[in-house]
Amino acid sequence: MSEVHAPAVGIHDLALATTHHVLTHEALAAAKGIDPGKYRVGLGQDEFSVAAPDEDTVTLAAAAALPLLERSGTDGIRTLLLATESGIDQAKSAGVFVHRLLGLPSAVRVVELKQACYAGTAALQLALGIVARDPAQKVLVIASDIARYDLDSAGEPTQGAAAVAFLVTADPAILAIDPVSGVHSADVGDFWRPNDRSTPVVDGKLSIRAYLDALGGAWRDHQARGGVPLAEVSRFLYHQPFTRMAEKAHKHLAGLGGIAYDPAQIASGLVYNRRLGNGYTASLYAGLAALLDHEDDLAGQRVGLFSYGSGAVSEFFTGVVQPGYRERRRVAEHAAALDARVPVDVATYRALHASAERGSAEDYELPRVTRAPFRFAGVTARTRRYE
Ligand code: COA
Repeated sequence: MSEVHAPAVGIHDLALATTHHVLTHEALAAAKGIDPGKYRVGLGQDEFSVAAPDEDTVTLAAAAALPLLERSGTDGIRTLLLATESGIDQAKSAGVFVHRLLGLPSAVRVVELKQACYAGTAALQLALGIVARDPAQKVLVIASDIARYDLDSAGEPTQGAAAVAFLVTADPAILAIDPVSGVHSADVGDFWRPNDRSTPVVDGKLSIRAYLDALGGAWRDHQARGGVPLAEVSRFLYHQPFTRMAEKAHKHLAGLGGIAYDPAQIASGLVYNRRLGNGYTASLYAGLAALLDHEDDLAGQRVGLFSYGSGAVSEFFTGVVQPGYRERRRVAEHAAALDARVPVDVATYRALHASAERGSAEDYELPRVTRAPFRFAGVTARTRRYE
């Protein structure tokens, strides 16, 4: 009897989108009268993306996914998974709006997933299962979030926004995901957002401890299930609420796994996040985009990824970069998305922050601000309208 090999499954294409505006941490530090080194060095952040009034999780998600469909069409896509914790409705999936904006066929299942910053990885794992069962199918996964904390809170400098879309297929061109995954869940009160709040309740110091505990737990589970030793992993990507967290995480994991801490193993993955700020569930995958875009000889190299979503659910897994990855990346497009953002001053940023509180009780029209391909146009009869 001949041996049957399951096809490799993983990420075949990937694109990043962000907002119209940006605020520098230097401006925020000046407004608060604190040393900008706290943000630049202490948090590892230079600036963060700020949404225009006509941008939201839906418009960012659709903008991230559009280049994938322009490149390879919609054939084979039967599932759209949208991961977010900044969704726009408590019942209807933000993905249904994205499905229409992208002109996807009706023969597609659409669902939204939520578990703080972990949901994108849950979506990836579900997608891998669907494709493993039927390798002819493709799954469109979109991680899209706008991280918004209270003004003048400790979390304020760790805001940001990003969306990353990726296609999960058999025989992927970018990253083949290894079958072994380590998972860790614990009920922790580090960060949550009750239904009556538009910003989270957060215990920042606890969230850092919970993140590191979860990293240890997920990695130990990965090892117990036969995962590769850390010495066989060449690059590491971490969930990055702020990029300094990836440094703390990698030091912690290196200590647990008995390898030397080498900042070169995480450096490329921090490049976009330093400028995007926190993209919640998109942040790990923005790190993947940055790694692929900034290193030319990754083919055949193994990458370790750690996903953490407060509350808390986490996963450590690995994947192998595929030979064709360089031809599929979007280095210039990603640089353009970051460079095109229009800087705002602190007063404008504070006004934009407040305007995001607008409810659905009254109809309104929003003037065009964003230059993105899709926009949120306003509310009519409690329905959000997208163009
Ligand atoms: N120059 C260089 N570094 C400086 C500095 C300066 N002038 N001033 C402070 N720092 C360093 C601190 O020493 C600290 O470093 P450490 O982490 O190595 O101890 C770091 O900057 C942050 O300073 P800290 O006083 O701890 O910040 P904070 O109390 O304002 O809060 C967070 C930081 C991350 C807890 C806060 O932004 C937060 O709650 N964010 C949201 C939750 C979050 O992102 N959690 C992450 C896990 S999910």
